[in-house]
Amino acid sequence: MKKITFIGTGYVGLVSGTGISDFGHKVTCVDIAKDKIHDLNNGKLPIYEPGLHELVKKNMEAGRLNFTTDMKKAIQDADVIFIAVGTPMGEDGKSNLKYVESVAMTIGKYLRTYTVICTKSTVPVGTGSWIEGIIRSSNKQNTPFDYISNPEFLREGSAVKDFLWPDRVVIGASSQTAFDIMKEVYGPLYINKRSIVHTSVVTAEMIKYSSNAFLALKISYINEVANLCEALGADVHMVSKIMGQDGRISPKFLHPGPGYGGSCFPKDTEAFVDISKENGLRMLTVEAAIKTNKKQKIRMVDKMKKLMAGNFNNKIITVLGLAFKPNTDDIRESASIDMIKALQDGGGDVRAFDPAANDAMREVFPNISYFNSWEEACQNADGVAIMTEWNEFRGISINRLKSILRNPIVLDTRNILSVKKLKENNFSFDNVGHLIER
Ligand SMILES: NC(=O)c1ccc[n+]([C@@H]2O[C@H](COP(=O)([O-])OP(=O)(O)OC[C@H]3O[C@@H](n4cnc5c(N)ncnc54)[C@H](O)[C@@H]3O)[C@@H](O)[C@H]2O)c1
Repeated sequence: MKKITFIGTGYVGLVSGTGISDFGHKVTCVDIAKDKIHDLNNGKLPIYEPGLHELVKKNMEAGRLNFTTDMKKAIQDADVIFIAVGTPMGEDGKSNLKYVESVAMTIGKYLRTYTVICTKSTVPVGTGSWIEGIIRSSNKQNTPFDYISNPEFLREGSAVKDFLWPDRVVIGASSQTAFDIMKEVYGPLYINKRSIVHTSVVTAEMIKYSSNAFLALKISYINEVANLCEALGADVHMVSKIMGQDGRISPKFLHPGPGYGGSCFPKDTEAFVDISKENGLRMLTVEAAIKTNKKQKIRMVDKMKKLMAGNFNNKIITVLGLAFKPNTDDIRESASIDMIKALQDGGGDVRAFDPAANDAMREVFPNISYFNSWEEACQNADGVAIMTEWNEFRGISINRLKSILRNPIVLDTRNILSVKKLKENNFSFDNVGHLIER
């Protein structure tokens, strides 16, 4: 049993910290956000993530998981410290490393016995040696430590499952001692024959960016294919389904939609492009994926405008789905933000509903109306834009929708509604490359 500290108790820190406590280790999650720690200590989770509440409760009750703001104690008690603070995108497209920098300085200051210090936050390739240098320079007592990188691949919405059953665990470490300690930390996965890969720090950092950028590329590619399908009268559903049957391609991340969002792909692709430029190279494919994604979000707004006869002014328009994907309350870089902004700028009366993300979106758009069900949100609306494929939107009855709308107009950016039923009910509708009857 190892004593583990997670610094940063957000989507990644909370899920991974809880997951590692479930492996049998004693985990302390620390954060500077006092409210968050207070709520966690009182059984209230700061994020929505399926299965997380139960896992937190179980491990807290077993005495393996606790939450604190006491950084000094959390650092001095640990065998392994994970850095899991945010690395948001700066104005210049670069990763903003100020939280990582501040944590690294604090760790160095308080370190007293040999500790493995592990970055789980996504940091630009090559940052590891910079972080290690900061720890070293504030470590006035010269306490020994090993610095390693352990990028995280979990997906919001299925984060608990992804963490407990990962495709692989990547450990970037130059020290065999540190790698052996990490093998112990991830022990149950090792027993379950999950692959635990030992690389250098810089290779581990590179694996993370290369993976995320590739997935973003895949999404942008299928979105462009969908747009061409629209022009040619082909059905993108069939195209992506059959493409996905080719083992070399795989069906995953091949679903057309309103453009990717979330806290990772937009910032990680921008940072990857920036890293390559700093090294005298261009990632032209990734640059294209970013451009395509921005255009796709604008394209959704244009589709909505077309459906609404060219303007939103004084029209009641409902946005269903605010989170960037289902099963999360994360709205960072969600396509729904671009949609709401355009509707508002155009003079529309915007109504919104998301099963988990109303509160998060209220912080961004306090002046639109929020509802507690799709039916309430759609009452007397002049049009509806579906932005997230929550299961409860998949189950929307088209007859019922027709009966409550003032005008039967719908933009289905996730291709979840039956085109056949929309046609039967005389809807004026659009979607993403899928205008053919199902
Ligand atoms: N969210 C994901 O799906 C995901 C997946 C893989 C990797 N990542 C990466 O993991 C990192 C964390 O992402 P996230 O989504 O969990 O971020 P987040 O914004 O949800 O959480 C970050 C947390 O760090 C805390 N924090 C900031 N400064 C601190 C400090 N000095 N001391 C203690 N706590 C501090 C914040 O209060 C916040 O609770 C990022 O680098 C991200 O790119 C995220």
